[in-house]
Amino acid sequence: MSDRANRPLPGHDVIAPVWGRAGNVDVERGEGSWLIDRAGTRWLDYTSGIGVTNTGHAHPRVAAAIAAQAGKLLHGQQNIVYHEPGLRLHDRLSQILPGGPWGVFLSNSGAEAVEAAVKLARRATKRRNILVFRGGYHGRTAQTMALTTAKNVYRGHFEPLPGSVYSTAYPYCYRAPVAPRDPTTPGKPGSCANCSCRWEEEWNLTLQTLVSAEDVAAVIIEPILGEGGYIVPPPTFLPRLRQLTRDLGILLIADEVQTGFGRTGQMFAVQHSQVEPDILVMAKGIASGLPLSGIIAKRDLLASWAPGTHGGTYGGNVVACAAALATLDVLEEEQLVANAAARGAQMLDGLRAIAAGRRAIGDVRGIGLMLALEFVKPDEGDGRVPDPDTVKRVIAEAAERHLLLLSAGAYAQVIRIIPPLVTTAAEVDQALEIISASLDAAGVARG
Ligand SMILES: Cc1ncc(COP(=O)(O)O)c(C=O)c1O
Repeated sequence: MSDRANRPLPGHDVIAPVWGRAGNVDVERGEGSWLIDRAGTRWLDYTSGIGVTNTGHAHPRVAAAIAAQAGKLLHGQQNIVYHEPGLRLHDRLSQILPGGPWGVFLSNSGAEAVEAAVKLARRATKRRNILVFRGGYHGRTAQTMALTTAKNVYRGHFEPLPGSVYSTAYPYCYRAPVAPRDPTTPGKPGSCANCSCRWEEEWNLTLQTLVSAEDVAAVIIEPILGEGGYIVPPPTFLPRLRQLTRDLGILLIADEVQTGFGRTGQMFAVQHSQVEPDILVMAKGIASGLPLSGIIAKRDLLASWAPGTHGGTYGGNVVACAAALATLDVLEEEQLVANAAARGAQMLDGLRAIAAGRRAIGDVRGIGLMLALEFVKPDEGDGRVPDPDTVKRVIAEAAERHLLLLSAGAYAQVIRIIPPLVTTAAEVDQALEIISASLDAAGVARG
């Protein structure tokens, strides 16, 4: 070993401070739901590296596939050669959704895949404008910053951003201006019978005042809002949006970067409402941690994308493709999508019990293993004033007890809980115990 390898590790200040830090664990390895630091301390990772490690950390099957492929070929560039893992993965992903016929384009990061979806939509429709939902997060490249309205930190200070992007309201029922605010009672299509959020009125107003429908190429939507606060829309929302977009010739892009690959208890979240998007964006859980992303799109749309108009050096990297194939095998053989639904229901029940009587927890919500607690100041304003300070304290208390959690929401007023899909019933119980103790320690009292 060289002298250099024996030197003490450098301090963290060599890393660009632009990385906002959720914690300071110096991790050495991971297994399943756990991260293990250099001192050997085990951390229950209910962040999943922001929704990436659906098969758990370093799943042996995925690790073996990566090692085997790395020994054969590290890079087989898409414009130059075909390779077996790539061909097999394109084929498998083209059959992962009902309907179709589907084709696949692969890239490296979620933002890059969103960019591909937008370029394809503009090219295929010959229309210019894109509609987004307020609170959405789609990435941090120039185009995806322009699509992102989750928090000003993601886009502020970077103007000018690409134009021809218009936003409309997501059905954030808990924050509807006046009661009732119940998104779960089904009503007439497009409305929540028991909610006043009126997203469809906002949609109509957007198309009446900001942009003409016939100039809109696509609307991009997170089926469950991620960074925006883990917001589950009413069950009528997506089917109604599909109907509206189809009637207007607007393409529907489902950004399933965070919701995909079993996270919500279905392979993709659109499947909860049997909605067929025109383009589906995927990343994160696709390859258990290797950088891979892409879009699944209708073949007739893909046919309009002339060769050379999009691409990239690393898209569909052969090692990442091998990791993705092994990931899909593990999801299927270990029935992890069903486990996400079962463990998610267990966790949601547990969170509701823990939250009962704690007025500072305004909302408990989630679907599958995408769960959230929204914190408020119950004695201020209308009782729903966002409370990011309490969120910070609870996350810090959970970390003291070796449970890793993340925040979300425009004000960071939400704790999101993102366990890996391999998590066990015993781990969920352990996490619930820690969350309950952390709430007590952070002064989130009952009564
Ligand atoms: C819904 C959604 N879209 C896009 C992205 C961007 O993905 P990436 O960070 O891989 O660029 C994210 C990342 O969190 C996301 O949650």
